[in-house]
Amino acid sequence: MEKKEFLGFEKDEYVPIMKDESMSFLSQLCAREKPKRILEIGTYIGYSASVMLSACDAMVVTLEKNAENAELARKNLAPFGERVTVVTSDAFLYIARDDIGKFDLIFLDGPKAQYINYLPFLKELLNEGGVLVADNVYFHGLVRQAGEVKHKLRTIVVNLRKFIDAICLDEDLESEILDIGDGLSVSRKRGGHGQA
Ligand SMILES: C[S@@+](CC[C@H](N)C(=O)[O-])C[C@H]1O[C@@H](n2cnc3c(N)ncnc32)[C@H](O)[C@@H]1O
Repeated sequence: MEKKEFLGFEKDEYVPIMKDESMSFLSQLCAREKPKRILEIGTYIGYSASVMLSACDAMVVTLEKNAENAELARKNLAPFGERVTVVTSDAFLYIARDDIGKFDLIFLDGPKAQYINYLPFLKELLNEGGVLVADNVYFHGLVRQAGEVKHKLRTIVVNLRKFIDAICLDEDLESEILDIGDGLSVSRKRGGHGQA
């Protein structure tokens, strides 16, 4: 299904949907990894979820804080039936639960300043050999840029730098930062087999 066919596509002037090349990477990763369970943080109107659902046979749980977005996503994702669950929740409240099982792939595309705070929980939720993908880790180039960052964006940039350092230094993870779209990080939890 084309992006523009999604209900709600035109609703925001700035549509925070993943860039095409990042989407294509995610689709190929899903096709290669064949995950059984995927967790997505940041559904918006369901486009990236639809790309992952189309690329493999996984069951997908996707989290969205905004009730209006979540409702549009449920409608857009209806063709995938019971393979997808759109949960209206603040992501943190959901990932901190201990009754949601483990995932083979986690796609992190929610609030950028929170990636670093979510990381310990996401590591726990990932099966050994599973992959954590995070979008926008370069945040419009600001994360790699030297010099002052506008006050409004400083927390996001500082926290994304902490996130990148954390995944690269974590001995349980094998991480790479890809120059795709707005920067994509790919981290495999050690202990399983295969390569990201
Ligand atoms: C970049 S958009 C997701 C785009 C989507 N993954 C795609 O490419 O089609 C980020 C979404 O995360 C949601 N969001 C922001 N903070 C959140 C939170 N704390 N918990 C859950 N969702 C959140 C926003 O409402 C927004 O819809």
